[in-house]
Amino acid sequence: MENHKATEPIVFVIFGASGDLTSRKLVPAVYNLYLDKFVGVNFSLIGVDRRSHPEDEYRGLLRKGVDEFSRRGKTQDAEWDVFSKRLSFMDGDFSDPNTYKQLGDRIAAIKQQLNTEVHTIFYFATPPSVVEMLVHGLGAAGLTKDEKRSRVVIEKPFGRDLESAQELDIKLLTELKESQIYRIDHYLGKETVQNIMAFRFGNSLMEPLWNRRYVDHVQITVAEEVGVEHRGGYYDKSGALRDMIQNHLMQILCYIAMEAPVAFEADEIRNKKVDVLRAIRPIEAEQVNQFAVRGQYDSGWIRGEQVPSYRKEPSVNPDSGTETFAAVKLLIDNWRWEGVPFYLRSGKRMPARVSEVVMQFRPVPHLSFPSSAIPDFTPNRLVLRIQPNEGIFIRIQVKQPGATFRLRGADMHFLYKETFKVAEPEAYETLLLDIAHGDATQFMRADQVEAAWKVVMPIINAWEGSTPIEFPNYPSGSWGPDAAVTLLARDGRNWWVPTAIQDHT
Ligand code: BG6
Repeated sequence: MENHKATEPIVFVIFGASGDLTSRKLVPAVYNLYLDKFVGVNFSLIGVDRRSHPEDEYRGLLRKGVDEFSRRGKTQDAEWDVFSKRLSFMDGDFSDPNTYKQLGDRIAAIKQQLNTEVHTIFYFATPPSVVEMLVHGLGAAGLTKDEKRSRVVIEKPFGRDLESAQELDIKLLTELKESQIYRIDHYLGKETVQNIMAFRFGNSLMEPLWNRRYVDHVQITVAEEVGVEHRGGYYDKSGALRDMIQNHLMQILCYIAMEAPVAFEADEIRNKKVDVLRAIRPIEAEQVNQFAVRGQYDSGWIRGEQVPSYRKEPSVNPDSGTETFAAVKLLIDNWRWEGVPFYLRSGKRMPARVSEVVMQFRPVPHLSFPSSAIPDFTPNRLVLRIQPNEGIFIRIQVKQPGATFRLRGADMHFLYKETFKVAEPEAYETLLLDIAHGDATQFMRADQVEAAWKVVMPIINAWEGSTPIEFPNYPSGSWGPDAAVTLLARDGRNWWVPTAIQDHT
């Protein structure tokens, strides 16, 4: 969150170094930070994995990942050659103390060579099941002893439910201080998500309207076109509620609903977010069906191509009851939002990849126009488009030019690509830099993660306790099951078709 300059020497250790996250996100992010001179030549990256790779082959693999996934496109030889000298690989079993001993020796050699202390960032790009083992191995080898200079980064989902998250926290805190733990949610690194605070608290035109007096309801949609791809093994044990709603969507909701922070400080902002989660009305066990909907994709068509059903995806149980779509209605019991529903939905194999927040305002108190002037009248609507074609849109009513007096809707818009000509950094770039500087504002504190689990636990319990006989219940390429439409229709509302689809701006 702070404005960062180049960092002190960093040793960046990635556990799970042959995995997807490393090649698609982490290494491209580090490479871009290097090109942008946010990390100097005195950084080192050590990849650790069970699968062994000769050093050269490993560097080649990482380069391929950068070429394919970096926002800058293909690497240039001269730049890559210098950068790749900072990359090395170590194979090792995470359960073997010797792995951590060897790692410690490597870090010590780097310090000696640089003749200075270094910051060590241990990134767990691994399944959640090995997190405890890693923390214990690092702790036993004394690698996380320096509270100021060593940090661990843990990917979501943090635990599988409230109980396991609490147990994991207790175990982590036997080896680490809370200030060393960075629970990462990459949505918090997205420019458009960070911009919610700027937009709300930097504009006197906006903030006074964000409350129950003016807002009818809020919708948060995170839709993906892709299916589970090759992550069936992980996803089948997770599902949309744990994979997306409990973290990414809940974080967006916190920014939309939080009170203004007194200061722009990590704990202050995180306190305000926790207040939102604590104010969400608990869903009673017998009411889950009125507040939550689950779905699983069937085969269907996406961009003219036939795609298989979820149950036919690799590493997925052919009778799987895992949801690939979830929609939830939440109510926030506080002065600002009492009675304003927040509808959240996320799913795979939807018609498009689009994430948007829609704030639907109430109609004006009194329409003085003749009925002939307002056949198409719609109340104001604010759309924050998180991705793609990032921007903000405000639907207003204007007089249609002509001799007769007639109102019609028009959009005022801000588009990143129009206003800012430079490419935005990727979420992981922003977040890695924050970690390097020890800035925890955009990371989740233990109480925040637990509060988010508390919100979804009644739904998890209800869903785990009943087999979804209706699955699969939505075709690929659709907006989810009919029950999701009913969820809003019961309240006399309907889901907004994302602007990204409507206007292709
Ligand atoms: C990840 C989920 O956290 O976010 C994935 O595990 C999902 O299932 C991804 O595809 C979506 O991220 P983005 O940045 O592409 O919206």
